[in-house]
Amino acid sequence: MEEYISTLFLVLLLLSSLVAGNFYHEVDIIWGGSRGKILNKGDLLNLSMDKSSGSGFQSKNQYLFCKIDMQLKLVPGNSAGTATAYYLKSVEPNRDEIDFEFLGNLSGDPYIVQTNIFTQGMGMKEQRIYLWFDPTKDFHTYSILWNPQNIVFSVDGIPIREFKNLESRGVPFPKNKPMRMYASIWNAEDWATRGGRVKIDWSQAPFTASYRNYNGNNACVWSSGVSSCTSNNLAWLSQGLDWESQKRLRWVQKNYMIYNYCTKLNTQVIPPECSIIS
Ligand SMILES: *[C@@H]1O[C@H](CO)[C@@H](O)[C@H](O)[C@H]1NC(C)=O
Ligand SMILES: *[C@@H]1O[C@H](CO)[C@@H](O)[C@H](O)[C@H]1NC(C)=O
Repeated sequence: MEEYISTLFLVLLLLSSLVAGNFYHEVDIIWGGSRGKILNKGDLLNLSMDKSSGSGFQSKNQYLFCKIDMQLKLVPGNSAGTATAYYLKSVEPNRDEIDFEFLGNLSGDPYIVQTNIFTQGMGMKEQRIYLWFDPTKDFHTYSILWNPQNIVFSVDGIPIREFKNLESRGVPFPKNKPMRMYASIWNAEDWATRGGRVKIDWSQAPFTASYRNYNGNNACVWSSGVSSCTSNNLAWLSQGLDWESQKRLRWVQKNYMIYNYCTKLNTQVIPPECSIIS
């Protein structure tokens, strides 16, 4: 029995190492020097910021559609003025970008999760929510699904935002440019916390956020103009939200949404995706 359990454990360990990417193999630290650290044999990556710099990393691969899962544990304590992010971004000019940003706060005050989407350099599609847990206590899974029909942001498997491909109604959708995954922590004190009114307390530095279990296995790797996805019948490539997921999304929107560009416009012109979705 004991032997069986230890064999099972070994198999699980092997499987999990196949599923979760090793940071040494998957990413490069591109900013902040030793403030970005790959730890625990590649299972963990810490990014920190002090007064002179933040830090960041990027995926070695470029993707044209992917389903990325990553676990993050955000800066604990007084994190006001810090922004931690992970996002997909194409090259300039007129970049496409899909963003997850985490805006720090004073001890005990809630983080804000901001999402945004850029197509051909045009963003201004921010949504902001609070989370239903303290994201600094434990690791939680933040996912981006990007396929030709949908972009879905999820937290612990619960969708917090869906952006459908409505090109047929004149809404631009990012689907022609390969993107890399990026992550960083930086000084955002001029806008992040209470609209920039709360600044960074440098006596608390360095500020450290941790990343774990990066999973880019469900991805079409783009290399020299060729996609690694040879078949179109990968489930995630056409995945949207089923009825149950729609229900959960509405639960998030009803209870945790604090800002939605669709409903906070100064202009009379409502973006078409807003009138269609809501
Ligand atoms: C920080 O806490 C304040 C007070 O609860 C809240 O208004 C604000 O939305 C929180 N988050 C950020 C990032 O400012
Ligand atoms: C990395 O971050 C974790 C918290 O998630 C912390 O416990 C650990 O001390 C950090 N390691 C280094 C070397 O900074």
